[in-house]
Amino acid sequence: MNDQSPTFRTSQLEENTGPGHNPTDNATMGELIAARFSRRGFLKGSLAVSAIAATVSPMALMMADDARAESKSAFTFEEVEVGIDETHHVAAGYDADVLLRWGDGIFADSPEFDPLNQTPESQAKQFGYNNDYVGYIPIDGSSEHGLLVVNHEYTNEHLMFPGIVKVVKDDKGDAKIEIAPADQKRVDIEMAAHGGTVVEIKKTDGKWQVVKDGKLNRRITANTEMQLSGPVAGHDRVKTVADASGKKVLGMINNCSGGVTPWGTYVSGEENIHGYFTGKLPEDSKEAANYKRNGIPETAYDWGKFHDRFDLSKDPNEANRFGYVVEIDVNDPNSIPKKRTALGRFKHEGADSIVAKDGRVVFYLGDDSRFEYVYKFVTTGKFNPDDRAANMDLLDDGTLYVAKFDVDGSVNWLPVVFGQGPLTEANGFASQADVLIETRRAGDLLGATKMDRPEDIGPNGVNGKVYVMLTNNTKRKDDQVDAVNPRAKNAFGHIVEIAEEDGNFAATKGKWEILLKCGDPSVADVGASFSTDTTKNGWFGMPDNCAVDADGRLWISTDGNSPKETGRTDGLWAVDTEGGARGTSKLFFRVPVGAEMCGPLMLPDMATFMVAVQHPGDGGDDWKPFGRPSYYEDLSTRWPDFKDHMPVRPSVLAITKKGGGKIGV
Ligand code: FEO
Ligand code: CA
Ligand code: CA
Ligand code: CA
Repeated sequence: MNDQSPTFRTSQLEENTGPGHNPTDNATMGELIAARFSRRGFLKGSLAVSAIAATVSPMALMMADDARAESKSAFTFEEVEVGIDETHHVAAGYDADVLLRWGDGIFADSPEFDPLNQTPESQAKQFGYNNDYVGYIPIDGSSEHGLLVVNHEYTNEHLMFPGIVKVVKDDKGDAKIEIAPADQKRVDIEMAAHGGTVVEIKKTDGKWQVVKDGKLNRRITANTEMQLSGPVAGHDRVKTVADASGKKVLGMINNCSGGVTPWGTYVSGEENIHGYFTGKLPEDSKEAANYKRNGIPETAYDWGKFHDRFDLSKDPNEANRFGYVVEIDVNDPNSIPKKRTALGRFKHEGADSIVAKDGRVVFYLGDDSRFEYVYKFVTTGKFNPDDRAANMDLLDDGTLYVAKFDVDGSVNWLPVVFGQGPLTEANGFASQADVLIETRRAGDLLGATKMDRPEDIGPNGVNGKVYVMLTNNTKRKDDQVDAVNPRAKNAFGHIVEIAEEDGNFAATKGKWEILLKCGDPSVADVGASFSTDTTKNGWFGMPDNCAVDADGRLWISTDGNSPKETGRTDGLWAVDTEGGARGTSKLFFRVPVGAEMCGPLMLPDMATFMVAVQHPGDGGDDWKPFGRPSYYEDLSTRWPDFKDHMPVRPSVLAITKKGGGKIGV
């Protein structure tokens, strides 16, 4: 989601990520920066007085010196020019073909998309709204035939439904939109447009197509039956009016980023779940502090008017059943998705994983709110590459850790485990289930480091590093600056690189560096740290999702660049991480006006790059040629169809090189 979005919905949800929701003093270590300098005698002098020095370890400086001679970029494509218009742009020599649009049928019997007469039933058989995470599970090891898995994060009603928007003036006299309250049919269409898609795709003669009669094709919605699994399953705090077992849940919501496990399942992170709940908790509810910490309720949607489970006054425990990583076995379209509670309950972004040296599997997890934490989960069991079934419950048993980034450049992974440290009955936890339901409070007590909105976290199996996207945090004050979040009013975000101890992803400690501080490097006050080889097109703000390709190259997509914020749209940038070219960034693809760039996924053969264009046409006020609010009847773009009767449609695109071959060179 985009926290600069002009629409009420996204801004409402993101407002909830403010500092008021993390009440602790953890790790706001401004005063400790000085300590870091003084411990590093050889950093004294001119470097020590620069803010950048606080974020670059001596080791990295020496390595950078060694590498200076070898400054070759891993990317040689011709960069796209930044700009803003109605359509997408990809680097010269590449095709970006629309593969799946909101409303496209994904089954042989799916009804044609008819935006004026949409029904919950038709939407449930069509590609959902606001594609975010995109993953690929090969069939027979192929990079030309497999299952595409896609999250549908949320819905933008003003772009989806005709006749529901009124344009009014705000206090300053500027036009803004108001959206009519929903009726049940609209709510049920919204619920069917959420969730995920699993769909078979195939590349024929160099072009990708959807296999509509694929036997594994599936839509998952906000009503699909799911199972709570792991330590929280069956606990009293997840028993509801409709489900006395505390195990059966309907639907997943606000699924942002995700991952594909080494055993070929689709994992999907429930993020801003607070916006779907309404009503007041009963006076005597024990969940008041828990819900406040998670911003529940926010009432951005009208679902609670028609479905009692989203009304806290009627079903006070339902919200404890959302905010998890959901695992979906794509090999069986009737399998019941499992909410893997062992991975914690918070505003989950992604769930990228990697197999550690000893065979345990490590999942990196971000909690995308201002001042929230970075986590990882390490399975107890080991991955068995020869027996898929043996891996299917690995995610129910393991250790969740939260990150503490210290001023000396070390990161310590603190176990989020009942009975250890402060996670005891004295602090109100009676079991691991309690710890997981209130993961954020557990992180507070452990003294984890409050970060600038942790989004995707990408482990890199080629160089052993891990990249943490930190979107931004304009609410960080001067006295809240710390070594790993070094900028107050951090408008443009940054990227932290972790090297786990001995290259072991399951290690409980490692080292950290700042790879990039984002924003316009030509404005000194911004404090950006792109390399000097980075052009005016190459810098970006608000890193959100990332992809690490088979060569270990890093690609970053953004959420929140706009005419007003950075004079550019969101897009996909290629970022060098190695040698003298480290910190050089180049624009490969950019989105149409109003959109956010999601999904980025390089297929294993590096000949296809999938990208998800999310909420295109959501905004246009700050784009001069349009200059007013965008909504169904008056859209800033009708991408990708550009037909008068077709609304703008979030879509997944397949990027290939003309004539084929490896992407980016
Ligand atoms: Fe849905 Fe954190 O972006
Ligand atoms: Ca985001
Ligand atoms: Ca998003
Ligand atoms: Ca995101």
